[in-house]
Amino acid sequence: MPAPAGTGAQDGRARSAHGAHGPRPDERSAGAVSLYSRPVPDILEYRERFPILAETTYLINHSLGAMPAAAEERVLEYARDWKTRGIRAWGEGWWEMSLTVGDQIARLIGAPPGTVSMHQNVTLAEAVVLSCFSFDGPRRRIVYEEGNFPSVRYLYQAQRGVDIVVAADDHGVVDAIDGRTLLVPVTHVLFKNGQIQDVDAIVERAHEHGALVVLDAYQSVGTVPLDVTALGVDFAVGGSVKWLCGGPGAGWLYVRPDLASTLEPALTGWQAHTRPFAFEPEQDYAEGAARFLTGTPNVPALYAATAGYDVIEEVGVERIRARSVEQTALLVELLEEAGYQVGSPRDPGRRGGTVVVRTPDFQRVGDELSRRGILCDYRPDVGLRLGPHFFNTDDELRFAVEQISEIAGSRIAATPT
Ligand SMILES: Cc1ncc(COP(=O)(O)O)c(C=O)c1O
Repeated sequence: MPAPAGTGAQDGRARSAHGAHGPRPDERSAGAVSLYSRPVPDILEYRERFPILAETTYLINHSLGAMPAAAEERVLEYARDWKTRGIRAWGEGWWEMSLTVGDQIARLIGAPPGTVSMHQNVTLAEAVVLSCFSFDGPRRRIVYEEGNFPSVRYLYQAQRGVDIVVAADDHGVVDAIDGRTLLVPVTHVLFKNGQIQDVDAIVERAHEHGALVVLDAYQSVGTVPLDVTALGVDFAVGGSVKWLCGGPGAGWLYVRPDLASTLEPALTGWQAHTRPFAFEPEQDYAEGAARFLTGTPNVPALYAATAGYDVIEEVGVERIRARSVEQTALLVELLEEAGYQVGSPRDPGRRGGTVVVRTPDFQRVGDELSRRGILCDYRPDVGLRLGPHFFNTDDELRFAVEQISEIAGSRIAATPT
């Protein structure tokens, strides 16, 4: 039984009750449809594949992307394979899943096949990268940005012998890189304010000085296009929980193919061996992405995750990005009209999928929104984070801003001056 991946489209044709964008299938030119092609579904037709959208206004895809119904099927498929195939399932797809699923991620990030391995999360993927290096020579500096995700910061800080330089922003990272720099862990889209970073400039400067760039693309892949090959990053990491709608437990690691064969991770295991089932006493690193694997893969998480990847691949990240830019522009406009300070970039070219807004007493506003079925979150210092995905309607965005105004406004009215 092969690992589940790429099941592709199901035929969901019913129109959403929540509004529409673009022509309806029956309005499209008949000439576009042949025996060999099906009409591209209206983007809002994908709503019906995400059951939680019927119950909530789901604007928290930067944190936990909505679950596709197909993920439940995949998890059941996993259970059935385990129940009926037993030990044979390893040879029928399970053992290879860290690489076969990695190949699906590779398609989403512009990487060649055989360059992405699956891990439990970003922290572990970055730990594998770190374990390829030692920090006892003259080149032991790590330059990163203030806005990196905490887990990534903690991990780098904890390495023995490192010399950490923290820059205020992406320009600061460029300035701080020098001949002492070994690694530059950088974030594509910042988690707190959704700002897209100037990765090109960082890669250029790092490579001029012989440093290597580790790109954390968790907040971009699935909503902001990423081409790791064109960018020339040395490593890239991400997970599946957010814009990929793949659920927890399926982090990924890309390593530049020409670099991979020169590295020997110290965080290693038998999946990284050329002949794992020979059970040899010494490590003999496999070629390609396999050399970055560790032990037994997280099989159920990999089953679940592919349901999210399938729908993202089917819709297409370029199309998702075009819709996301419209959605975030609308949110910025509505929130500013309502008198709130937006903390995400106004320039759409610098803005990822999340809009951050500071309202009075935003924790209370966030909690009340949640009670009303409008799911978003807040982060200290910055305010509410709203992360619409391709399946959200403009009406939902208007509704969320109305509710924010009502909740935050009522508090202002009740506060004695
Ligand atoms: C940019 C970024 N990196 C990493 C993480 C999480 O890392 P991990 O997979 O180790 O939990 C997040 C959010 O959870 C994030 O927003």
